[in-house]
Amino acid sequence: MSIFLVGMMGSGKSSVGIKLSEILQKEFVDLDNKVERDFGRKVADIFYEFGEEKFRHLESVALEELCNCPNLIVATGGGILQREQNVSLLIHKKVYFLDGDPEKLYQRASKRKFNRPKMKDLSLKGFIELYNERRNLYSSVANVTINTDELRPIEIAKKIKQHESD
Ligand code: S3P
Repeated sequence: MSIFLVGMMGSGKSSVGIKLSEILQKEFVDLDNKVERDFGRKVADIFYEFGEEKFRHLESVALEELCNCPNLIVATGGGILQREQNVSLLIHKKVYFLDGDPEKLYQRASKRKFNRPKMKDLSLKGFIELYNERRNLYSSVANVTINTDELRPIEIAKKIKQHESD
């Protein structure tokens, strides 16, 4: 069964996903990278040239495709649950919510701002508001929530592995 990682920008979904794929010997897919490969443009370019709605459409199409694959580790984008259809898809899946203190998430997300159009001009206050809007959505689809504040990606991956073998 595939495993989906959800959470805000900066929660470590991609780093954890890579470690987890090594540990569990499952193929890893980063949803943003898939959208970029499928559409042939960087996420930031899609946002700026075609608009966020276009990106959300491409993201939903890519998610639906991956939901039909049997045995993947998938790192989703932080805004994946903005579309209700994605909530409906993920509610039936095995989902881990990588949570954390929004201030820490903001600091981490700020490090890779160049391909994160949502971070452009986003203040800490704005980020916390976004976190508060999304937190319940992440929780609503997640089977397990992991607080990532004090953990490295490998430690989070090991925790997930532990849950998987319970
Ligand atoms: C977004 C998060 C990004 C990416 C896009 C939008 C968001 O993914 O999908 O820039 O709305 O939170 P990461 O969570 O991997 O940064």
